[in-house]
Amino acid sequence: MRIRVIHGPNLNLLGMREPDQYGSETLEALNARIEELARSLGVEVEIFQSNSEGEIVDLIQQCIGRADALVINPGAYTHYSIAIRDAVAAIRLPVVEVHLSNVYAREEFRHHSVIAPVARGQIAGFGGDSYLLGVRAAIRLVEEGRA
Ligand code: DQA
Repeated sequence: MRIRVIHGPNLNLLGMREPDQYGSETLEALNARIEELARSLGVEVEIFQSNSEGEIVDLIQQCIGRADALVINPGAYTHYSIAIRDAVAAIRLPVVEVHLSNVYAREEFRHHSVIAPVARGQIAGFGGDSYLLGVRAAIRLVEEGRA
């Protein structure tokens, strides 16, 4: 089983970016934790980060025939990118939307996700652990689909 993980815009700055919101863990350290979890569960992960909307659309489309599920933190694009929403809907794979922060406890513009209606579910507010929970959820969804 292969799970793709996509980090959206500004997540390359994790560790130094608004640490009160996003914690002090760097993206590199978070990716190491995701890889470690995948190894322990016997699945493959491919992890990408991009600041660019079009590149994220390409990365989502590449899941077709290459990945069994997608875990994505679309960053600020969550709240308005119809292109990313349409790509998520197009791939017809289980998609789990994740956020480090509890977006519902923050500014009102973060309360709406255009991705959530086309994702299988959303995990928000657990810091880097949101991704680990997201990977576990994605594995479960793939297994259920195969059963
Ligand atoms: C975020 C929440 C978004 O509102 C914000 O724009 C981000 C990060 C999160 O992981 O909490 O870039 O997706």
